[in-house]
Amino acid sequence: MNLSTYLRAGYPGLALISSEEARAEAEIAAACASLKRNLHAWSSTEGLVDTKEGRVTACPDPLEALQLLDGMFASDNPRHVVLLRDLQLHLDQSDPMLVRRIRDILRIAKANGHALILLGCRLKLPPELEHEITHVDFSLPGPERLGVVLDGILKSAGLKTVNAALREAALQSALGLTTTEAENAFALSVVETKGIDHRIVAREKARTLKRNGLVEVVEATTSLDDIGGLGLLKDWLVRRGGAFSACAKASGLPAPKGLLIVGIPGTGKSLTAKATAGAFGLPLLRLDMGRVFGGIVGQSEANLRSVIQTAEAIAPCVLWIDEIEKGFSGSKSSGSTDGGTSSRVFGSFLSWMQEKEKPVFVVATANDVSKLPPEFLRKGRFDEMFFVDLPDALERAQIWDIVIARHGRKPTDFDTVVLARACEQFTGAEIEAVFIDALHEAYADGREPRPKDILEAMTHTVPLAQLMDGQIAALRHWAKGRAREAASHAAPAARNGRRMTEVN
Ligand SMILES: Nc1ncnc2c1ncn2[C@@H]1O[C@H](COP(=O)(O)OP(=O)(O)OP(=O)(O)O)[C@@H](O)[C@H]1O
Ligand SMILES: [Mg+2]
Repeated sequence: MNLSTYLRAGYPGLALISSEEARAEAEIAAACASLKRNLHAWSSTEGLVDTKEGRVTACPDPLEALQLLDGMFASDNPRHVVLLRDLQLHLDQSDPMLVRRIRDILRIAKANGHALILLGCRLKLPPELEHEITHVDFSLPGPERLGVVLDGILKSAGLKTVNAALREAALQSALGLTTTEAENAFALSVVETKGIDHRIVAREKARTLKRNGLVEVVEATTSLDDIGGLGLLKDWLVRRGGAFSACAKASGLPAPKGLLIVGIPGTGKSLTAKATAGAFGLPLLRLDMGRVFGGIVGQSEANLRSVIQTAEAIAPCVLWIDEIEKGFSGSKSSGSTDGGTSSRVFGSFLSWMQEKEKPVFVVATANDVSKLPPEFLRKGRFDEMFFVDLPDALERAQIWDIVIARHGRKPTDFDTVVLARACEQFTGAEIEAVFIDALHEAYADGREPRPKDILEAMTHTVPLAQLMDGQIAALRHWAKGRAREAASHAAPAARNGRRMTEVN
């Protein structure tokens, strides 16, 4: 719902969280103008300003300002909207008079059709106000609004003609930034290149998001060909890849919601998450759930909202959440540990997963399913859940081929079928570690690695699967019937030019 809808529906207390004060105020002013409401704005420095009449009443104290509203709100004609800036800073001081005063005024506002809007860059209401004030989403600027910003920059730089395709690419690259951040990125591009270069805008966006610390833009350089095995999972991704096109949308196909990959450590879950963006041809955002919950108390909800806003502004995109259980593990016991924050944030995340309309494809990975609450796994949240087991001999041979080639050597110089047979129970990560070990050993002797070096390195490795066989058995048991197998162990088809019989 947008601001006008809430105002029309008679919500007396609204909160708009944004660091873009000017844009948010412009939107509030536009909503008031279209609904013919009188807009007043208060801040401790300016006092209460009647924006229509231009009348200013000096009152640095919010209590005084709210006192003035008593008279204004006494009748229902005309209707007023009062914008309160930075009220959070005053609420942080836990003044009981202020909280009481807000509740009183909200009651009068409700009776006579007026509204208070709290505007600031964060919101942590005391419990007494939590149910009285409704949070209004304020999305990040879309291409149209960013276009106005870009044109302003180009004009002030004296650049009149800009290729339409370049302009469009720059606007797409800026999605996910606030107007001020986009303005800075555009300005930098103009200074560096005397024109507009979407690569500079994309680079600045990556830096800005990284600095903001919640989501990170990851270059989607991994492809499905970089993954050995996991045939069924890869097939699934290939078959879903087209679903984000304009054509699919026109045919009424709903955008896929997401994928949960659970499994044994080191088996390629994160690798697959990265490759998904490449397979879908979409930008990749990585979310660190730990950071959502970090920082000051009360910030977690705001952090999650900010992540969702960024992802939705960039959509269609892939949002990768690695080791999701670590972020949400507090949600079960949260009542006693963190005042219910994790469970609230978790609840908001789940409802977003279920209801999201923007094409944000969530790829979550998890090792420890026992930490995931059951409601997380219910149908409707993720389109599919895959279980990644240890690779079988055929898959290990494929992984050897990929790993050897990734490190600049020719797989045909090694008998990867023999290598695959020799490393039963090894994960992909362990195969790679063994190869790197062999590379080092050979380098120290001043030569290229030989199969013998690899077999030797294997003898120094105890696969994790042996150390944690109990946990792996439990995970397999859990996955049975719940999750789809990622690998097509039974399929006799030739893959990477090899047949099952060659390996077994
Ligand atoms: N199936 C595979 N094909 C190719 N390489 C693999 C495969 N599995 C693992 N690897 C190699 O091992 C590295 C680690 O794998 P990855 O990070 O994807 O494992 P993971 O399942 O996410 O592990 P964890 O649960 O510990 O996070 C990869 O970057 C890749 O080099
Ligand atoms: Mg991982």
